[in-house]
Amino acid sequence: MTTAAEFWTTGDYAVVGDLWAQPGRDLAATLAVRDRDVVDLATGTGVTAIAAARHGARSVTGVDVTPDLLREAVRRSRAAGVDVTWIEADLTDVPLPTDCADLVTSTFGLVFAEPGPALAEARRLVRPGGRVVFTSWAAEGLFGRIRQALAPYFPGAPEPWHEERDAIRSLAGADATVEVSSFTMTIESPEQFVSLLERFSAPIVNGAASLGDAWPSARRDLVRVVEEVAGDAGPDGHRVPVDYLVTTLSG
Ligand SMILES: C[S@@+](CC[C@H](N)C(=O)[O-])C[C@H]1O[C@@H](n2cnc3c(N)ncnc32)[C@H](O)[C@@H]1O
Repeated sequence: MTTAAEFWTTGDYAVVGDLWAQPGRDLAATLAVRDRDVVDLATGTGVTAIAAARHGARSVTGVDVTPDLLREAVRRSRAAGVDVTWIEADLTDVPLPTDCADLVTSTFGLVFAEPGPALAEARRLVRPGGRVVFTSWAAEGLFGRIRQALAPYFPGAPEPWHEERDAIRSLAGADATVEVSSFTMTIESPEQFVSLLERFSAPIVNGAASLGDAWPSARRDLVRVVEEVAGDAGPDGHRVPVDYLVTTLSG
């Protein structure tokens, strides 16, 4: 069976992740991280963790299961001149003490682990009075629609729990607040965007490999849905609105 680290080593997340890094930067800018202890789960290349350090967090720890991505996070934090502690670990079993953080964040990462253990571990790490804040793609946004376009090719795949408010609250608890947010992603064209996904995005690279001969048909559906959301091109390419959800749990 493929481990999470093997899965996320496929392709090169650093290339595509930068296209949708804005929510992580926005989260760090709006969460009042100054003088707080922050733990960023499934930190990947460290987008959110590095932004939190830049915004004056007292301490920042980035946790991820994929060594290649953590190496890139180390490189980026050094280039940015910020101090972040990086831990290679599964986010459901983090070697940090209980109540160690004022803020536990995760941008498009915690949602890839089993929800029960992931949410329990995030809650364990956060101090009373602190917050767990994580993002996930919204069902009606670009990435939700991409998943829906590909779903017929993966019969039996579990329905995601993190694309809609009620589903999130049924797992995370009725005290969870779920807000819709949005950012603008610039792409050259739908075709070029799908080419990037099929070369560099682990879920799409792995999905395409498992589909084999069915991939060209799935790929056409993928291009079509990106075309629908992307609309007409402007002078700099397509400026694509992308909706996502921000879930907050109180510690
Ligand atoms: C879509 S990327 C998001 C990365 C980063 N948070 C960002 O906003 O760019 C998903 C990340 O989740 C990590 N991941 C997946 N399952 C994990 C697990 N069980 N424990 C820790 N990290 C995990 C992957 O290694 C990858 O870095």
